[in-house]
Amino acid sequence: MEFFDVLDKRKSIRQFKDKQVEKEKLDKILEAIASAPSAGNLQARKILIITKPEAKKKLCEASLGQGCLIQAPIILAFFAIPKESESKYGTRGRDLYAIQDATIACTYAHLAATALGLGSVWVGAFHDDSIKKAVGAPADYITVALLPIGYPNEEGKPRSRKKFEELFVKEKF
Ligand SMILES: Cc1cc2nc3c(=O)[nH]c(=O)nc-3n(C[C@H](O)[C@H](O)[C@H](O)COP(=O)(O)O)c2cc1C
Repeated sequence: MEFFDVLDKRKSIRQFKDKQVEKEKLDKILEAIASAPSAGNLQARKILIITKPEAKKKLCEASLGQGCLIQAPIILAFFAIPKESESKYGTRGRDLYAIQDATIACTYAHLAATALGLGSVWVGAFHDDSIKKAVGAPADYITVALLPIGYPNEEGKPRSRKKFEELFVKEKF
């Protein structure tokens, strides 16, 4: 799929078919994630791949009961590793770059899934500590996003966005 078609096609998908995602497709998504940029190329992030029903149930419980986390055959959980970025960039690395390293990785995954004909939704409403406890992640990681991925069983909502005049500023505020 052409890049701008991917952007156009990408929507949040929260309903998934009862159909597995092929390993080749998952591998492509993981390659896309691994190719994402990061501050100082430190890649201060870790991505957990979850497919087991009991783990998905725990993630759902830690995320206000969002059903997409049960339905989707795969969930990717994106963690920032603040101490890795802090070692080079101090507090800016700890408080900002590590989060951005994990965020952009999730962005790549979301777009790659779309390009492969899969649906996904960025899930950010969860309790960080409950997620980390559920999956055994180190306490000093930060859960940045969950991305349930599968074959879409809905079209997604029509896109609504701020007008350009609201969003963009020319030259000066
Ligand atoms: C940081 C962030 C957190 C989000 N958290 C959730 C969430 O917890 N649950 C959910 O269903 N959608 C969540 N979304 C998806 C947004 O609701 C969605 O992107 C937005 O409504 C625009 O719709 P679209 O993605 O179809 O263009 C989140 C998106 C972002 C970027």
